Amino acid sequence: MSGAEGQGGPEIGGGWGASHAADSEHPEQPAHFHFDAESEVQIEKIIRRYPPGKQASAVIPLLYIAQRQMKRQTGSAWVPRVAMDVVAARLGMAPIRVYEVATFYFMFNTRPIGKHHLQVCGTTPCWLRGSDEVLRACKDAGGLKGYGDTSADGLFTLTEVECLGGCVNAPVLQVDDDYYEDLDYESTVRLIEALKRGERPRPGSVIGRQASAPAGERTTLLDVPGE
Ligand code: FES
Repeated sequence: MSGAEGQGGPEIGGGWGASHAADSEHPEQPAHFHFDAESEVQIEKIIRRYPPGKQASAVIPLLYIAQRQMKRQTGSAWVPRVAMDVVAARLGMAPIRVYEVATFYFMFNTRPIGKHHLQVCGTTPCWLRGSDEVLRACKDAGGLKGYGDTSADGLFTLTEVECLGGCVNAPVLQVDDDYYEDLDYESTVRLIEALKRGERPRPGSVIGRQASAPAGERTTLLDVPGE
């Protein structure tokens, strides 16, 4: 992408918006993007957190807001280039600086993805606890060939991620913004089948572990007075 192509700016009679000529090289890129009313409410709260002149610090939250708006409007959570331009204009930044942030952080999708983003943690604790089986289940139940693939029905995109910070309940699969933990092949298949039915199982440990407490019965503090 070229920084020179970003031309964010105010629209007459509306909020901040941006538009591009149709991009024949990347036909998935929309020509226009505007923050909707729901996003505007969130943006107002976020920008108020920063002192005057420091609004550029809100770039990551605003990119998140843009990505979530795309999910609401299109079913796919991603940040088109024209949305980055809107963020740049809103925060008084050069578009290239927003592109740098959006392409550096892995949580921003710069291309359309499936309805559900399956993010398999393959780092050592999850790998030792069976992340290969979680990956196999994602492929089998989700109709996915491997990392980077989107299923033919558009329901799932599969991505490998590094440590999600939930190692204590490894292996972990992040689905969109939710963590599912203590998975194995069968529980991952059940989770994906539920997603296919339009259900959203409760996030967290699938074996009923309380937060990150040791699995099984309590073994310490058994004689706490008053209990
Ligand atoms: S290694 Fe998977 S959550 Fe840390």
